[in-house]
Amino acid sequence: MPPIPDESSVAMVHSSPVVKLEDGCENKRTKKNRRRSHHHHGSLKVLFYLLAVIVVASALILFSALQRMTLDSTLYALMNAMLNAEFNVSDIDLVDMHIPQVRNVDTIAVERIILGTLYTQLVNKHGKVLMEIMKGAHVIVENDQGRYYELFKNISCTTYSRISSHYSIDVQYAVPQGPLLDTLLTGRTVTNDSWFQFEGANWDPIDRPIDSMLHVLNYVEYKIRGVQIGPLGTSKHTDRNPLLIPFENTHHYQRLTNTADHV
Ligand SMILES: *[C@@H]1O[C@H](CO)[C@@H](O)[C@H](O)[C@H]1NC(C)=O
Ligand SMILES: *[C@@H]1O[C@H](CO)[C@@H](O)[C@H](O)[C@H]1NC(C)=O
Ligand SMILES: *[C@@H]1O[C@H](CO)[C@@H](O)[C@H](O)[C@H]1NC(C)=O
Repeated sequence: MPPIPDESSVAMVHSSPVVKLEDGCENKRTKKNRRRSHHHHGSLKVLFYLLAVIVVASALILFSALQRMTLDSTLYALMNAMLNAEFNVSDIDLVDMHIPQVRNVDTIAVERIILGTLYTQLVNKHGKVLMEIMKGAHVIVENDQGRYYELFKNISCTTYSRISSHYSIDVQYAVPQGPLLDTLLTGRTVTNDSWFQFEGANWDPIDRPIDSMLHVLNYVEYKIRGVQIGPLGTSKHTDRNPLLIPFENTHHYQRLTNTADHV
């Protein structure tokens, strides 16, 4: 008989500290929870900003990747069209061309003349070199005595003088192109060689503010990645690492000397 109340009392004695312990734990838990939820608030904010940055960055990366894929396909479509082009070699310096109608490749008159001239006269129909130029390579025509500079300067009545980050001993000119090639920039080196380069987006803040903003972004990318940004891609040939084309090796030079022989 006596053990029964003893057991119960023991149980009671045991149970009360257990309850107290549990109480203590719960109190601690709620305190901890409160502290945690406070902490959650701050880290949620950080998480939110982090997510926002990640979303914006991925959107930009995706956008530029898509844009590059589009540019690549346009470049290949253009090169394909050039293979089937008819060239009109009536002028002594300039060569006009007629290219078949291709999706994504709409050219205006000045673009066809520049493409026809560069392809047949300057790069001797080397497609890869022309592609590098379309991607924005900085080109120097060695020993041409400013001939290409003069040619581009006079090719269209929309040409205007402007400044750029490149060096030139004389006024630099921008020759506006169509939506395909955007802008051609030309100048002369200290040794009177012509340099030229197609630009991805045009610098003309008054008439074309959005293009000019893109130009600044391109410039930042150019500085960070050390590449030149052209209308149809990017090129490693910056003005410090130019694409050199000796004038003596060009078809243009051969035609000139041949005519001189004939005359
Ligand atoms: C070639 O160009 C000349 C002058 O620019 C023009 O008169 C002639 O019609 C053109 N020919 C073709 C086939 O386009
Ligand atoms: C330099 O180039 C210009 C054309 O842009 C030409 O008029 C001039 O004769 C050239 N000078 C020399 C020394 O070749
Ligand atoms: C370039 O055009 C100007 C007028 O716009 C002309 O006076 C000059 O002779 C032209 N130069 C060449 C090399 O065709």
